[in-house]
Amino acid sequence: MLLRTLSVLLLHLSSLYLHLGAASASCSCSSVIVPVHVDVLVPKDPTDVFGGLKSNETSQRRVNATYDIYGVFCQPNAGNEDVLQLLAHGFSYTSQYWSPPIEEFRNYSYTAFSCERGMPSLAVDLLAAGLSSRPANASDVQFPTSSAVLSQLAQQLKTAPILPGVRPFQKIIGIGHSLGSALFNFGAIVDGVQSPFDAMVLTSVLVSGPNDPPPGSGTSAIFIAARDADPLRWGALDPAYVTINGRTVFYPPDPTAYSPRMLIFDEFTKDVGPLNMALQLASSSIPAANYTGAVAKVVGAEDQVLCGADRCVDVEALTTAEQVVWPAAKSFEVLVLQGSGHDLNLDFRAGAAFETIFGLVTRFSAM
Ligand SMILES: *[C@@H]1O[C@H](CO)[C@@H](O)[C@H](O)[C@H]1NC(C)=O
Ligand SMILES: *[C@@H]1O[C@H](CO)[C@@H](O)[C@H](O)[C@H]1NC(C)=O
Ligand SMILES: *[C@@H]1O[C@H](CO)[C@@H](O)[C@H](O)[C@H]1NC(C)=O
Ligand SMILES: *[C@@H]1O[C@H](CO)[C@@H](O)[C@H](O)[C@H]1NC(C)=O
Ligand SMILES: *[C@@H]1O[C@H](CO)[C@@H](O)[C@H](O)[C@H]1NC(C)=O
Repeated sequence: MLLRTLSVLLLHLSSLYLHLGAASASCSCSSVIVPVHVDVLVPKDPTDVFGGLKSNETSQRRVNATYDIYGVFCQPNAGNEDVLQLLAHGFSYTSQYWSPPIEEFRNYSYTAFSCERGMPSLAVDLLAAGLSSRPANASDVQFPTSSAVLSQLAQQLKTAPILPGVRPFQKIIGIGHSLGSALFNFGAIVDGVQSPFDAMVLTSVLVSGPNDPPPGSGTSAIFIAARDADPLRWGALDPAYVTINGRTVFYPPDPTAYSPRMLIFDEFTKDVGPLNMALQLASSSIPAANYTGAVAKVVGAEDQVLCGADRCVDVEALTTAEQVVWPAAKSFEVLVLQGSGHDLNLDFRAGAAFETIFGLVTRFSAM
């Protein structure tokens, strides 16, 4: 158990080392741990697909806790000091999704890509993932909790410096992948005009209805209790913490569209999350009626999780369907990336995905 824990830790550390070493000319990165206090109501029944948004208080209970949230903060030596990109990874990934330590960060690091272009970022481990706090009871980690962690963190970073010598940020853009995007979406529903996020770039997520099967089911992906998947590493966890086996579903169907080494890395560094997170994605069918920032969704045309049944072929129709839940957004658009899979950042089209995401960030930071 110790060895396995160490090897995972070492991947994190080597990631930091390479960041600091390779990127030092234009950019510096450091790991941070930020205590974040949340006080939220969660459904007593964690299988409530709306995450409590449609419940009254008799079916809810309170989670009032302070969690340590781990992140990697990257700052250009010269560049923007007012806008922060807050990066939130997807289910069973960690902050390493935004900067996987392979190929010396040349081809797959969005944090390096954006930092070299002058834009700071903070890539966090979601609550219960990676090096952030993992509550013993998985039912404490529901959409209201994890989403409030992101909103509270953003509020803090707008009022207090993340590191000595760094000014609080004036604008924060939430950039999510998959589950991370869905959590920003949930926050937009709950926070409305009070949202600390000035804009959102939501990658690899589409509206899912309460009766839709969880994304990935019907594919080779298998949700499996983490303690059964890897007893040495996760044997002590609440069985409601799960991971995903069969990860080719996150890549395009064409196996020459991504590196086999990336798949090995993905399998080796996969992480856990509570099973309810897959169910509560259905909360995205509720309109974010009072969210007034700019919103863009980015999906890969070859996304096996979301774009089956030609769903992503007619971009205009897709946009019309998705726009319904963002009635007050300053702007709304859907971009479909040809050739990209669910993990936009991890296949050979990653560079094109970075151009697209960064283009949106540039536009939104000027709004
Ligand atoms: C609260 O929700 C419960 C369960 O959904 C329901 O049975 C009850 O009637 C509701 N109470 C009120 C006052 O709406
Ligand atoms: C919520 O947590 C905070 C900080 O831990 C504590 O000061 C406060 O008393 C708690 N509130 C309730 C109602 O338990
Ligand atoms: C990484 O990117 C460079 C240039 O950007 C390219 O020449 C190289 O083939 C890429 N490596 C892989 C494994 O994709
Ligand atoms: C987790 O917390 C819920 C709500 O307090 C409780 O009903 C449940 O028994 C707890 N589960 C475990 C494994 O402790
Ligand atoms: C949006 O704001 C209006 C007016 O303040 C309020 O009545 C409504 O409940 C809010 N909607 C949501 C989904 O929070």
